[in-house]
Amino acid sequence: MADVRASIDLALPPDAAFDALVEELTNALVRLGIRFEPGPGGSVAEGAFEVGKVVEWQPGLGLALEWRHASWSPGVVTEMRLRLEPVGSGTRATLQHRGWDAAIGDPVELAGWFAGQVLAPLLSASSPGAFGDWFTDRRARRPSGPAARATYLHPLYHLPNFRVILAELALTRDDHLLDVGCGGGAFLSAALHSGCRAAGVDHSAEMVRVAREANREALDAGRLDVREGDAASLPFADGTFTCAAMTGVLGFLPDPVAVFAEVRRVLKSGGRFVCLGTDPELKGTPAAPEPMASRLRFYDSADLEALGRDAGFDDVRVVRRDLQPFAREAGVPEAHLPLFAAGKGGGARFLLARRS
Ligand SMILES: C[S@@+](CC[C@H](N)C(=O)[O-])C[C@H]1O[C@@H](n2cnc3c(N)ncnc32)[C@H](O)[C@@H]1O
Repeated sequence: MADVRASIDLALPPDAAFDALVEELTNALVRLGIRFEPGPGGSVAEGAFEVGKVVEWQPGLGLALEWRHASWSPGVVTEMRLRLEPVGSGTRATLQHRGWDAAIGDPVELAGWFAGQVLAPLLSASSPGAFGDWFTDRRARRPSGPAARATYLHPLYHLPNFRVILAELALTRDDHLLDVGCGGGAFLSAALHSGCRAAGVDHSAEMVRVAREANREALDAGRLDVREGDAASLPFADGTFTCAAMTGVLGFLPDPVAVFAEVRRVLKSGGRFVCLGTDPELKGTPAAPEPMASRLRFYDSADLEALGRDAGFDDVRVVRRDLQPFAREAGVPEAHLPLFAAGKGGGARFLLARRS
């Protein structure tokens, strides 16, 4: 019988390794259109078809799934087993699929499946293109995992930008604000102090969860709505908001004009929009390091203004702000304040736009 195995040694105790792998696997499978309900009696489903059934669940030791790989032959059952064993001061985690050879039979075909479906994705995932994409997504473009959740719940190094945007928006109780790419909801929390109503949208399911938890009171009071969605197709009706903000998002957008046009669509007449730019001067600095830098789009002042105008905004201008005083005020450590210095060009760019 041929088994398929994938294995890794983690510098974690078995319980922590088990919890981390189950959580990450659950989130990653959802992104692939597969629902994993972990726990005793749990299951794995692809659409309406139950692919896996949890038949053993031993936190810290492993789990086993009765596995049906072919919806067209639902009677054929194999076994998927995740095993955790202590090695040195850490844990070896091995996922093993037993009986898979029967699904293919011919050993040359089996080699073809293994090379194409297991080895090539492993080699690709460990190459600069896919690894750089994973890293960019994980950290910033679609944040996921415990480190990103903690970062975006308290994004200290983004607070200077938040302060500039709040100063430009001058929110009042009568405002209804949209935060596009709201991350862990820290900007929303700061904005809600004005007494305004607000909504956030983000395409990372984990960020939406963090933003909701961080702003539970406002959510329960009906002052806040946080939705999972794409900035290029905002899940809100025309003319909903009096103002909108976008910070730390612009550089990741493949079609920023389409996103700005969406923002304009959901603004009321007279609605104002403030967006943090992605300054070319930051490329390769700690604010935009590799591998993010080569995946970001950077805009000078003229480019940024053109984006606003092309999206249909009428009153469009770019302002530059020295972030250092805001960084000091926000509690950024003294040693890191030079990162926020205005430099020759006159500081970070912000696009200010208004819908007439
Ligand atoms: C660098 S984080 C900034 C988060 C937050 N605005 C802040 O400043 O702390 C970028 C955020 O934009 C979100 N994002 C990027 N592209 C998006 C898109 N097309 N639609 C919705 N959200 C997007 C990411 O998921 C992530 O949460």
